[in-house]
Amino acid sequence: MQCIDCGEKWTEQPIWRCPKCDGLLEIKFKLSAGDFDLKKARKQRLNLWRYADLIPAKKNVSLNEGGTPLYECKNLGRELKVKLFVKNEGANPTGSFKDRGMTVGVSKAIEFGKKITTCASTGNTSASLAAYSARGNLKCVVFIPSGKIAYGKLAQALIFGAKVISIEGNFDKALEIVFKISDGEGIYLLNSINPYRLEGQKTIGFEIFDELNHTPDRVILPVGNAGNISAIWKGFKEFYELGIAGEKPKMTGIQSEGSKPIVNMFKNKKEYIPEKNPETIATAIRIGNPVSWKKAINAVYESNGYMESVSDEEILKAQKLLSRKEGIFVEPASASSIAGLIKLIDKGIIDKGEEIVCITTGNGLKDPNTVVDSCKNEIIYAKEEDVENLIKKL
Ligand code: F0G
Repeated sequence: MQCIDCGEKWTEQPIWRCPKCDGLLEIKFKLSAGDFDLKKARKQRLNLWRYADLIPAKKNVSLNEGGTPLYECKNLGRELKVKLFVKNEGANPTGSFKDRGMTVGVSKAIEFGKKITTCASTGNTSASLAAYSARGNLKCVVFIPSGKIAYGKLAQALIFGAKVISIEGNFDKALEIVFKISDGEGIYLLNSINPYRLEGQKTIGFEIFDELNHTPDRVILPVGNAGNISAIWKGFKEFYELGIAGEKPKMTGIQSEGSKPIVNMFKNKKEYIPEKNPETIATAIRIGNPVSWKKAINAVYESNGYMESVSDEEILKAQKLLSRKEGIFVEPASASSIAGLIKLIDKGIIDKGEEIVCITTGNGLKDPNTVVDSCKNEIIYAKEEDVENLIKKL
């Protein structure tokens, strides 16, 4: 483990900040060409543990995460004049990319002899942690912002038997509280500040390369607490260092207009200023003070990428578009990657003909209420005798 600020190295242990300077920690490998045999790995089925040699944990708990579909989206791609793929992380066992982090993170909790896991969450992290803790026979306590979590996610945390603590305040407040109660001794913190989480999530980068057999020009994804963008970047960098990939993609992060501290920093070339009152319909990324902002901005700068924000209206429009053009139903936060793609094409930041992978991070069924609210005027209420006429007008 190495601190991204002071560079101090630490042996593997249940810590998530540098004991010397409080900086973020990263798991570092010394990699050189030939250290990982992709051809051999490909003999195993496509899922996260295909890359076990590059994951610093033993598989103690798994629900067969990863191996998610990479769809070529020809209908939408033709319209936008780009070669578009969607990596649908909503196809993971609990319906989001968090499962990749949790199979590794909870396996690590077991390795460290922990009995209780915890996290603060806008919903998906808590759903995933609750499931993996149940399967690993660990107790789990999750902190959620009161009233601002999609119902599907709340249902998951409850049914998997986590203790659900609803905090008055937003995600940032819940995260402050969880930092206070996690001590590394008894209670193991599994927010994405935990560097082992990111070791699981980096496999999104591995899989994209593995499936395409080359590196795309650009990867676009929603940014919330800012762990995933740096995790995926780490995956692409490791394949590059191993000599498997010849290129690296431009990492492009999307925040919502009501909570965009990293976009502000990127666009204004200013220091990082948290957003006090984050607001967006995409509750998964309703985060004003993303804990891994520094890792995220590093990924964007190092990869020559971009940060953009999108409005709630643009998010809902993109959610509908992806569903109706490609048959892929994703939650609002995930649709922000498509909304961001459209905006960056309009602005001329993305070139026509680029090959792009949008990551759709969570399943649409997580948040049915938002969809029904936005589409309910499309329902046709009819009596039996009206039906024939209605069908003729289709
Ligand atoms: N998309 C979805 C569906 C998410 O649930 C999250 C984060 C993100 C994107 C952003 O990822 O935080 O790594 O930048 N959800 C967290 C949670 C915060 O608690 O479920 P990030």
